Formats: sequence, structure tokens, C-alpha cells
Amino acid sequence: MKTEIDQIKKNIESFYIKTHQDVEKFRIEFIGKKKGIIPFLLKKLKYLSIENRKIYGQILNDLKVQVNKKIQSFDFKKKSSYYTHQCKKSFDTTIPGKYSEIGSLHPLSILKNRMIDIFSNIGYSYVDGFEIEDDWHNFTALNIPFDHPSRDMHDTFFLCENKNVLMRTHTSSVQIRYMKQNKPPLKILSIGKVYRNETISSRSNFMFHQAEGFYIDKKVSFSDLKKTIHYMIDSILGNIKIRFRPSYFPFTEPSAEIDIFYNNEWLEIMGCGMIDPEVLNNVHINSEMYSGFAFGIGLERLALIIYNIKDLRIYFDNDIRFLSQFRSELY
Ligand code: PHE
Repeated sequence: MKTEIDQIKKNIESFYIKTHQDVEKFRIEFIGKKKGIIPFLLKKLKYLSIENRKIYGQILNDLKVQVNKKIQSFDFKKKSSYYTHQCKKSFDTTIPGKYSEIGSLHPLSILKNRMIDIFSNIGYSYVDGFEIEDDWHNFTALNIPFDHPSRDMHDTFFLCENKNVLMRTHTSSVQIRYMKQNKPPLKILSIGKVYRNETISSRSNFMFHQAEGFYIDKKVSFSDLKKTIHYMIDSILGNIKIRFRPSYFPFTEPSAEIDIFYNNEWLEIMGCGMIDPEVLNNVHINSEMYSGFAFGIGLERLALIIYNIKDLRIYFDNDIRFLSQFRSELY
């Protein structure tokens, strides 16, 4: 493993990056989830002794950092030369203004408004949450134990050293905030940004939008949850095949993940389940009397399917050629 690692280190250093395509090639070769050599070796660590696992785990993680730094430094150089170039051009403030076209809503805003509409039709109210959360609302009240991997520094952006303040990792914290202050029956939808320490790629980003829905009343059952999900997917995507796959979330029991059959493969798009009675107890809702379901869905993934987008980085590039295509959709 040692010689292999030395070679990888040399290859990282000598990889010549000139264009954005090179950056992508570089990223895929070294840290790409499917083909990257570093994730591949990380998976092989389990065959080593505990001692070696630690040593090589550390070395491989350092290499990952090195790769990310090289990617970031390319972007930075590009941007700074672009801005100096722009500033050098002279700008005549006396020239009359040009006619400018009306802008359009961002595809994610269009989808957000559509979801709010679809759910208000079946009695859901919309509420906003907070992007900066504390440990209790994001983790503890949702039954997420102290040693859960999502609480790791590598996954969550903590805003202070004692790890009490953080960028929320999911919109499920809204459940807690709302349930604390309101009595059932509750039918709520909330949409907003969530943050996770993920490598940026065509399928993932460190920030994305989540829609969270939950319904609490007497005798709410799993079949109510299924009906609601089918209604939502039908309204947004039309006739498309979906499947419920048993899964695990600390705050729902039972839990399921929902996949959509798209482009000949199953694409995971959301998590859901019956709210764990322990979570209801945490916010002083009588779990003997009430039950409820909750679901969380990523908007970027969903919009990929609706608009047939291949790479979710395009949402945040501010490229007019992309954004102007949504002009007709003044939702
Ligand atoms: N919060 C979960 C996530 O971010 C999704 C989820 C929401 C699952 C509600 C179950 C119920 O992955």
C-alpha cells in the first residue's frame, strides 16, 4: 500500500490542470465516488490490521485534502483573473441604459412554489425554519444519539467549538420547533437550505434544499403516509414508478426510503416514516393519543428529473443561458 500511496501522491502533484474539464477529470480520478482511487483504497482499509488502518486512513484523508485544495486553488485563480480583467475595462456612466429583459424564477424556486401549492391543496400550512440551529433541535430531540456519524466534524458544519451551534443538516429540526409550540392536529410543510460537509460533484453539494412535511393527528397510519407520497409524486412527476424501501432514521419508526425509476435505474429521492413516539414525548405531545408521519425530500434531485438536468452544480453557477430557459414558467 505504501508504494501505491507514494505513486498517487506524485500523480496528484504532477496532474496538470488547465481547463474546467481537467478539474473534473482530476476530481473523478482521485476522489470520484465511483471510480476514484482514494475512495477505492479507503474501502480496502478494512482488510488491514487496526494499527495500519489508522495510519493509512490518516494518509488517505490527507491526500483527499490535498486533492480538494488543488481543485479550489484552480477555481480561485480563474475567478481572480476574471475579476481583474473586468475591472480594467473602462465604464462610461453617461451612456443611456439599455433595455433589459425581465428575469425568471430560479428552477428551485419554481419547484418550491409548486410544492407549497400541491400541499396546500390537501390542507398543509407552510412554515419557515432556521438555517442556523442548535444541537437539541437538529439532533438530540430527534433521537439522534451522541455517537451518530452525522454529528461528526466531517459531516456537519459546526459554528462554535462546543458543537452546540451548527448549520442545520436537515429540515427535520422544523418538526421539533413547530411541535414544541403547537398542539396537534398539525399538517406542515417547510422548505429551505440544509448543509452537509460533502464533496461537490454532479450529484451532491455542501448545500441543498429540502422539503419537510409532517402530519400529526389521532390515528395517522403508514397508509396515510403512502397515499400522501403517491399524491405528491403524481402531482410533480406524473406517472412514474416508485418504490418504498425499508430504511432507518433515528426519528422515525418504521422508516422508508423512496426510489424513483428514472433513466433505467432506481434513484433515491427521499426519506420518510412514522414519527418515533420518543420524538413526540420530547416535545410533550401525548404519543398514546397521537401518531404522525414525516418525510424529507431533496429539491435539487427532484428538479434534475423534472428538467432533465445532468449535473446539479448548474443550479448555482448563475449562468444566464441556463436560467433564462425558465422564463416561461412564471409559477
Ligand atoms: N431528515 C432526513 C434526511 O435528511 C429525511 C427524513 C425526513 C426522513 C423525515 C424521515 C422523515 O435524510
